[in-house]
Amino acid sequence: MSERKATLQISGQEAVEFPIMVGTHGNDVIDIRSLGGKTGLFTYDSGFLSTASCQSKVTYIDGDKGELLYRGYPIEQLAEQCNFLEVAYLLKNGELPNKAEKEAFEENIKNHTMVHDQITRFFNGFRRDAHPMAVMVGVVGALSAFYHHGEDYSKPEVRRIAFNRIIAKMPTIVAMTYKYSIGQPFMYPRNDLDYTANFMQMMFGTPCEAYKPNPVLVRALDIIFTLHADHEQNASTSTVRLAGSSGANPFATIAAGIACLWGPAHGGANEACLNMLEEIGDVSKVPEYIARAKDKNDSFKLMGFGHRVYKNFDPRAKLMRKVCYDVLTELGLENDRLFKLAMELEKIALEDPYFVEKKLYPNVDFYSGIVQKALGIPTDMFTCIFALARTVGWMTQWEEMITDPEYKIGRPRQLYIGAARRDVAPLEKR
Ligand code: CMC
Repeated sequence: MSERKATLQISGQEAVEFPIMVGTHGNDVIDIRSLGGKTGLFTYDSGFLSTASCQSKVTYIDGDKGELLYRGYPIEQLAEQCNFLEVAYLLKNGELPNKAEKEAFEENIKNHTMVHDQITRFFNGFRRDAHPMAVMVGVVGALSAFYHHGEDYSKPEVRRIAFNRIIAKMPTIVAMTYKYSIGQPFMYPRNDLDYTANFMQMMFGTPCEAYKPNPVLVRALDIIFTLHADHEQNASTSTVRLAGSSGANPFATIAAGIACLWGPAHGGANEACLNMLEEIGDVSKVPEYIARAKDKNDSFKLMGFGHRVYKNFDPRAKLMRKVCYDVLTELGLENDRLFKLAMELEKIALEDPYFVEKKLYPNVDFYSGIVQKALGIPTDMFTCIFALARTVGWMTQWEEMITDPEYKIGRPRQLYIGAARRDVAPLEKR
């Protein structure tokens, strides 16, 4: 709390004061929890444009500066100097692991990568052409049937095991989802490989021959995971917090996060962006699509552009752009048609007054689709990769919420604008 107070003067009522809470960085907030009791009024903030839904120590974003910090560390330093599992450890525990902690954590994750054999049966219930995110919602939600009875999530050790379990199993489930869609056998995890290389062998290996991961591509995918690991109180994280606030099973809660992430305005944007590039098809068509994006009467938007929080640039996009170059160079795809098209679109949009005035810059999803496609990941699997990585953030934020002494079930209010109270007329008089 600060010495400063906010005073609210509502006509016809006495002025009321509210405390102002101060954070480490960023906007301070007016604590209005007593507003309803003091004034009989609520606030209206659909879309949460001005409302902090919680206090958090996990991630900080400065949208104007284009800064993203996990537990205080800049994303650029983490992406360069750490691997995804170190970042996962950091997010969960608040500090980076030392060498012994890192090794113990990696070893523990390896011990949880297999899924219960019954889980494999769930896949058979899905159509082979089902959207992979639909399968993910179902299968990850089903984990709650395996880890529920007797689990007391108020105990730190039970939460630690739940975290390790799901972080370890997400690559296995994502890879199984892919293998099922193409009719190939599921691949078991391999403990001689590290987290991301193992994921790639479960995705692209077959029982017929040994899979040799390419270190450049493994590193690129590992960075993609790091860049997506958490992003403050975004829609899917808020969904996880709200679902978990009732005391729901964490695995079911993560399934709710996956459902939210699927939408094209959120994690589905990388898939939508690649589909858009395919639709544009050729550099000569770029001006036509830019014009459509600016036309108020056209619902078309440039996917991969704009962000609710970043209004100068998305620091993840900068890193992803570099990863994109590295991967395409490694694979000899510098002249890839879609990449060239994307670069042209980026150039024109960055110079166009409409996009400049509205501060619409490429976001992380603009490049991540191109990288993933080059890695051999099919378009409709992109959001599953995002979900795999974001599970770290979801579980961390879920734990932060349920261990917060001020934790309450999430229950927004509303402004009711429906019919006024009325009586039901008898059937013959309606
Ligand atoms: N193309 C064209 N116009 C746009 C775009 C775009 N991609 N994004 C925003 N605008 C316009 C919008 O029409 C509005 O215009 P006006 O002020 O005339 O009504 C103005 O810019 C402000 O946009 P908004 O939709 O009110 O902003 P928002 O903060 O509510 O939405 C957004 C942010 C990300 C949903 C939106 O920019 C968008 O739909 N972008 C495309 C989808 C996308 O790439 N999403 C991925 C986000 S990054 C991944 C993640 O973190 O989940």
